[in-house]
Amino acid sequence: MSDFEIVHLRSGIKSLRQLSSQETFHPGIGPMAEARILHVDQQRIVERSARPGRFVIWDVGLGAAANAVAALEALLESGGEGIVEIHSFDKTLDPLAFALEHAEDLDYLLPHRELIETLIDEKYVRVNGRIQWFLHLGDFRDVMHDADLPSPHSVFYDPYSSVSNQEMWTLDHFRALRNRLGDDTPCLLTNYTGSSAVRVTWLMAGFYVGVGQGVGKKMETTVASNHLEMLKEPLSSNWLFKRQTSQSSAPLRDAQHQAQTISLADFENLSSQPQFQ
Ligand SMILES: C[S@@+](CC[C@H](N)C(=O)[O-])C[C@H]1O[C@@H](n2cnc3c(N)ncnc32)[C@H](O)[C@@H]1O
Repeated sequence: MSDFEIVHLRSGIKSLRQLSSQETFHPGIGPMAEARILHVDQQRIVERSARPGRFVIWDVGLGAAANAVAALEALLESGGEGIVEIHSFDKTLDPLAFALEHAEDLDYLLPHRELIETLIDEKYVRVNGRIQWFLHLGDFRDVMHDADLPSPHSVFYDPYSSVSNQEMWTLDHFRALRNRLGDDTPCLLTNYTGSSAVRVTWLMAGFYVGVGQGVGKKMETTVASNHLEMLKEPLSSNWLFKRQTSQSSAPLRDAQHQAQTISLADFENLSSQPQFQ
């Protein structure tokens, strides 16, 4: 029995749902539209990758490959001198295998079926002279430390939510990710969350954090970076001030997190982050 099913979104578009977590992939406006708004456009990957040199995308949580395919299509439609590497990460190929079996329902996969099958078999596929796609299977928290892996300019961060995929949302994990990014390569991370607790966690992990584009019913999402100038709308000191009384502003310190108000010590730490100086 598969852990996935095809669901009809309100827009009429179809997507995947994981039965065990009851989480729908790209639940608002559908896989391609959401992937384009949230990751491809916000990351300005077409513009940023057009410059000479190498442009590296980390696609964290390959899942049913909507984010990766949206990036691929945008890059294929555009020109540019830069060499692009898409590095997709997942600990399982189950959602992708299910999606390929239902490619007629999820029509975004159909034009890229052969490419994706090669990626699964070889863990690598050369898309054209400019674009290469790599697959890294395993727990991202370990795999991201592989010495051969180039640092990213762009991270599509798309695990399940902090409720059902808690290990991908802890302060320790984000500190490790922030250290892994270093400071040399300016990098933008995009994600669907608007949660205060996640924003606090990212700030305390050493990221600069900003308001991201709204998508579907979400008024806003969240972006993070290792360079402040990458953010269009950094979280303000007014946002910081309100965290003192917010009921879900404590950082996600462990996998069994309960929503609660931030402690005085954590608030002092948060206030001392460079973004607010
Ligand atoms: C919501 S789905 C991603 C949807 C996908 N980005 C797409 O466009 O179709 C979340 C994915 O994150 C993967 N994932 C969760 N925890 C992970 C971990 N620790 N390491 C690697 N992948 C993980 C899951 O297996 C799942 O495929």
